[in-house]
Amino acid sequence: MKIKVKCASLTDIECDLLVVNEFVGVKHPGGATGAVDKALGGIITELTLSGEVSGKLGNIPVIHTRKKIAAASVAVAGLGESKDFDLDKVRTVSAYAIRKAKEIKAKTVATIVHGAGIGGLDPKEAAAALAEGSLLGGYQFNEFKTKIENGNEIKELIIVDYDPKKAKEIEKGAMRGEMVASAVNRARDLINAPSNKITPTFLANYAKKLATEAGLTCEILDCADMKKLGMHSLLAVAKGSSEPAKMVILKFKAKTTKKTEVVGLIGKGITFDAGGISIKPSKGMGEMKTDMAGAAAVIEIMGLLPKLGIEKNVIAVIPLTENMPGGGALKPGDIVSSLEGKNIEVISTDAEGRMILADALTYARKLGATKLIDIATLTGGCRTALGDVASAVIGNDQKFIDDFIVAGKASGEKYWQLPLYEEYKEYLKSDVADFKNCTENGKASPSVGAIYLKEFVGDLPWIHLDIAPTAYLEREFNYLSKGATGVGVRAITKYLMTRWL
Ligand code: BES
Ligand code: ZN
Ligand code: ZN
Repeated sequence: MKIKVKCASLTDIECDLLVVNEFVGVKHPGGATGAVDKALGGIITELTLSGEVSGKLGNIPVIHTRKKIAAASVAVAGLGESKDFDLDKVRTVSAYAIRKAKEIKAKTVATIVHGAGIGGLDPKEAAAALAEGSLLGGYQFNEFKTKIENGNEIKELIIVDYDPKKAKEIEKGAMRGEMVASAVNRARDLINAPSNKITPTFLANYAKKLATEAGLTCEILDCADMKKLGMHSLLAVAKGSSEPAKMVILKFKAKTTKKTEVVGLIGKGITFDAGGISIKPSKGMGEMKTDMAGAAAVIEIMGLLPKLGIEKNVIAVIPLTENMPGGGALKPGDIVSSLEGKNIEVISTDAEGRMILADALTYARKLGATKLIDIATLTGGCRTALGDVASAVIGNDQKFIDDFIVAGKASGEKYWQLPLYEEYKEYLKSDVADFKNCTENGKASPSVGAIYLKEFVGDLPWIHLDIAPTAYLEREFNYLSKGATGVGVRAITKYLMTRWL
């Protein structure tokens, strides 16, 4: 779907479906919707009075125009209550409109910017949210279907505003929203695809290609390189698999910034998590193809940095391996060393994410990162705590955490802080090594996972994002469809785009 912005009168736009909107409680539509209503002889007012057009979120009746205007049909998208309206509602309403357009087999869709008129939102931000909601809401994963049932590809989405000055702002916002949402959708493609395609080697090559196209530097470490460096914690996880492990390093240097800050982004890249010798139950194991969602998010964020002209230096360190129970696999009770030099007693080989992140965090510090963000589908316990609604943020710097939560909210991603109490360190006390990789009882597993990772971040400000709750949805939820969500791309990008004091 191509997104275009046009400065024109709504009634002159030729398209299969024109999307206008209405709040709950409005009796006579005004603004853009009012103009269309007038051209259609007051039909929207009539349907509002009869209750068919209700303005409620999710209500989106389609009216045939009988050639009274250039559009073949008009959809009146409900915006809900005006007091509850915000940018995330713009995303949701836009997703509903695109799904409706697909349902009626529209090829060309035109829309006003929800919220940029009476809604009182900033036109640029509202247009970005409109583009995001449309692209995210219209996403389908069809790569492996040779025949698509009820498929309808929307060719063009035309965003319309009559005011040339406003249209300029709308254009800027829409183009940014399109870039971000396309990156999210590419991450979703990687996460939804099966692990027999998305191997560590595949992802490393994908990252290399993306880096070449985006003008980033890229280095790929193979097992021999990692052995030489001393990344024994990551290599220990890889021992049970016949797929070779990789470590990808991507670097972005901002054009003009004089700041010496270097943000290190670390994404968990377990391309399949069978649990290793501590094997997972077979029911639902297939979902563990998504255990590289953190890695996919980091790769796509790196691709966005030059496109968005972000003024921050960023290094990505992406550890990639399978976690399998092959003959050479790591076993419970084994003791492994790490790049940091600390020795780890393995209690469960299923707590493998923290073991590969450990070496990646240390390596990011060695490469000069001054601030760390890791993103990982780390614990099932986090999903138990937060459902599929929010991800967890845990860290050692409260301002960093607070700023990130704000960025998340602005981007439409929810992060809820969980504690990093020192007492949790006691849970990992080992009789034979420096510490254990997890507890036997699973208590407070998201926080215990984080207290483990804290051993590898040195003195740097750091936040850990546990996206196990939100990386993969079993249901359609507002503007996100079932399956992979690409969570993290929007929030981290927003965080990097924001100038924090
Ligand atoms: N990849 C899983 C976590 C996970 C579970 C992600 C469900 C998405 C959905 C992780 O490697 C894991 O197995 N964690 C263990 C940790 C435990 C052994 C301390 C868990 O959560 O059970
Ligand atoms: Zn695991
Ligand atoms: Zn895992």
